[in-house]
Amino acid sequence: MVSYNSAKEDIKRTADIVELIGQYVQIRKAGRNYVGLCPFHAEKTPSFTVNPERQTFHCFGCKKGGDIFSFWMEYHNATFPEAVKDLAEKYHVMITERFSESAEQKKASHRKLLYNINEIATDYYGSTLKDPDKGIQARAYLKKRTVSNEIISEFRLGYAPAEWDGLTRTLRKKGIPLDMAVQVGLVIPRKNGGFYDRFRSRIIFPIFDLRQHVVGFGGRVLDNSLPKYLNTPETPLFHKGELFYGLHVSFKAIREKGRAVIVEGYMDCLALKNHGFQEVVATLGTALTDKHVRKLKGYAKEVFIVFDSDEAGKKAALKSLPVFSNEGLSAKAVVLPDGQDPDSFVNENGLKGFLELLDHASPMFDFYLEQKLTHRDSDEAKIGVLKESLPILSEIHEFSLRSLYVRRLSERIGIKEDMVWLELKSFEKKSSGKTNGANLKERITGSMVERRFDDLHILNLLIHYPQRVCRLMDCNWKIILCDPAVLEIVETFFQQYHNKERFLPEDLLDSLESDAARKELGEALLENSHYSDEEVEQALREIEGKVKQIQIAASIKKAREQGNIEELNQLFKLKAQNMKRE
Ligand code: CTP
Ligand code: MN
Repeated sequence: MVSYNSAKEDIKRTADIVELIGQYVQIRKAGRNYVGLCPFHAEKTPSFTVNPERQTFHCFGCKKGGDIFSFWMEYHNATFPEAVKDLAEKYHVMITERFSESAEQKKASHRKLLYNINEIATDYYGSTLKDPDKGIQARAYLKKRTVSNEIISEFRLGYAPAEWDGLTRTLRKKGIPLDMAVQVGLVIPRKNGGFYDRFRSRIIFPIFDLRQHVVGFGGRVLDNSLPKYLNTPETPLFHKGELFYGLHVSFKAIREKGRAVIVEGYMDCLALKNHGFQEVVATLGTALTDKHVRKLKGYAKEVFIVFDSDEAGKKAALKSLPVFSNEGLSAKAVVLPDGQDPDSFVNENGLKGFLELLDHASPMFDFYLEQKLTHRDSDEAKIGVLKESLPILSEIHEFSLRSLYVRRLSERIGIKEDMVWLELKSFEKKSSGKTNGANLKERITGSMVERRFDDLHILNLLIHYPQRVCRLMDCNWKIILCDPAVLEIVETFFQQYHNKERFLPEDLLDSLESDAARKELGEALLENSHYSDEEVEQALREIEGKVKQIQIAASIKKAREQGNIEELNQLFKLKAQNMKRE
């Protein structure tokens, strides 16, 4: 049994959260923090922050946060002991053995056994493929499909022989409880007792997670029998809707090239790899989900989806369009010639031919229009396409691209460009009320909210120059704030700052009462400083000046009401002085 505490501390000393998270999420420096698109919820503007000083991360959108261990657990779907073990391995930290086993550790050792069973099975299928007798047909099949030996070993391909209990016996011999093998979907219990192998007479494609563990399998028949493919069912380790086949090796190339190609089949992925194309992954016979895209956008800036030219392929393309636009990842559709899939295409046309296809890929929107419209559409159908296009268009932030699409849409549906723009504007107006704080910049530049300028500037100063803002405590700062959320933040700050030597604005998040205040602070934390070090003094003086002006104005009003001329005169003098100083 293992105690993780000392290992945890060692890992914390060794690892850097920015470097670690940077391997999975594209983050950039913004002020003292790093920001990026959150890997845990759908978003197009970054609210995921990593704080190098505190070695923590926090998402202001979904509120997930914590240290490197929490990140690892959340991202990899791992337990705490697993996270410690993984990270200890990654950072070469020793774990010492102690006595006691918590529930968490029990769960982790249970999962460890499940992974271990998959590992045993992968070895078993691998050695069957190499077996002179048992693997002969399978090897011939792979050869016929031009899968190289390098690919076979890199992807640990295997063969499940034509036996009912080949794997079952192997597992039993190794002392593995077979009900555990049932849990990973490799073995199926018989009605009358006993167990049999799920995969028989099939080429085996082990499926890996990003930690390089085998989490499931796909199996293909060698002939035309059905079903052509059999996959591991959903298990505690295997979630089809978020896994990509091949990502465990492709992610490096995807990050380097900034692009990823998504294909539909195991064989398509391997064929492209075989031809030296590295930045490719395959879905596992499921539709593309937001979880898929979220994972990919940590590596890629641009995605190409290769679709079969059949109806199902086109449908899948259309379905994936909003998934991409909701996650803010730009996607292009690659259409193959009739009857081809990436495997057959690259084998016929080589890598060069495939790269040409990529060059000619059209943005998903064009592809969408092409698929949606025929030449004889009714007016209703055209209006329908217009309505459906508005949310997609409003997702496109690049103005030139957006204009291009508007023009194209207007041409295709025969509605004037101006009208399309008008519709788009009114759509955006309607939906802008619903948007969250992400578009803070737009909000602070809006004239309606001019008064909020003071609030936001003070908040910004407080975050970036907490020591210096302290001096405002002595003036009647409250009177210039108009947003109750900001008021709460500043008030809490002044209360807390007294008691702390080192103050970090993120700490305030836990002390705030209202959601509105937390949200407001969350947004403000993402902003760079509005001021340089030199400008801070001026900014503070302006704030103090404003406070004084408001106070003087209130006193003037009072003096006027009371008819106190002497005081009025003095106040006007003060007002003039104060304005000069500003
Ligand atoms: N698939 C599946 N179950 C099936 C058929 C397909 O899970 N009965 C999934 C597999 O992940 C497969 C993908 O859908 O890789 C694409 O199917 P298909 O285009 O038929 O696969 P290919 O890789 O082209 O198969 P082949 O070996 O015939 O080239
Ligand atoms: Mn194929």
